[in-house]
Amino acid sequence: METVVSGIRSTGRLHLGNYYGAIQNFVKMQREYNCYFFIADLHSLTTHPTPADLHGNVKQVLVEYLAAGLDPEIATLYVQSDVPEVAELYLYLNMSAYLGELERSTSFKDKVRAQPDNVNAGLLTYPVLMAADIIIHRATKVPVGKDQEQHLEMARTFANRFNRMYKHEYFPEPYAFNFSNSLVKIPGLDGKGKMGKSEGEANAVYLSDEPEVIRKKVMRAVTDSGPTMDNQPKPQEIQNLFDLMKVVSSEDTYLHFDHLYNTCQVRYGDLKKQLAEDMIAATAPIREKIKSIASDGPYLRQVARHGAIKARESASKTIREVREIIGFRSF
Ligand code: TRP
Repeated sequence: METVVSGIRSTGRLHLGNYYGAIQNFVKMQREYNCYFFIADLHSLTTHPTPADLHGNVKQVLVEYLAAGLDPEIATLYVQSDVPEVAELYLYLNMSAYLGELERSTSFKDKVRAQPDNVNAGLLTYPVLMAADIIIHRATKVPVGKDQEQHLEMARTFANRFNRMYKHEYFPEPYAFNFSNSLVKIPGLDGKGKMGKSEGEANAVYLSDEPEVIRKKVMRAVTDSGPTMDNQPKPQEIQNLFDLMKVVSSEDTYLHFDHLYNTCQVRYGDLKKQLAEDMIAATAPIREKIKSIASDGPYLRQVARHGAIKARESASKTIREVREIIGFRSF
């Protein structure tokens, strides 16, 4: 069975776009591959979070992914910093990662622009740590979006370079596992692109949002002044609301409002009220699970321990072999 690795950013709560996109695919993949999913808390140190924020973020992400359906009995679900072997492999890979190629990475250039006062070495070597995350389990498949394509290419470069340097076909090449064409696209509430793409809390509906918050966000969604001709094409922001309806509402509801729109009788206030209630109903089971898991400390501890043990089994085997290959041998 092929091995899959994916790192989950430890900041940011899950929104509907994540849920109907990546997460549903993770849930499916668990059964088809040997999956390692981890919370990338080491990567998050590049932005210098406070200890309390760091822990809170990791906990929230773990809780939400469990609530959304990742099964720690099937996949290996762990916290990156619980597996020190990753940091060790990162050190080895750093010895043959070159300044020039690291500086050319687009994500590094973006970060330099975004945080000019904190251009630390961790930021520069972020792709090396990401390569270590993946090849520590000798994974071949990485379910990530287009924005991670360059990082994946660098991971292949570092894996191949290690193999060549030590004349040993040890690490396989990891490739992106791209779902983007088969994914349902969930638009945001700001009338523009995908949910979560633009800044601002109001653009996205989070799985942990309370019903009142969801109602407020949906009621504030951007609309136009309404159709003036029958069967008029829908402008982007209206199409977005219908696209959301397609995902969370019944077909009857969707067709009802579509008919009202096409006959110029639609009242956006009513449409949004319906959409909000349907979103609340669609997310209710996950919202409840988030709450119950978040308050179950012993369960979370058990999940994290179990995940760390399974991840370290695989990681320590790799490190043992890598040390031998490099020439760290016992006397
Ligand atoms: N860079 C990824 C992101 O921004 C997160 C990540 C870190 C990752 N390590 C990884 C993804 C390893 C896949 C595999 O989303």
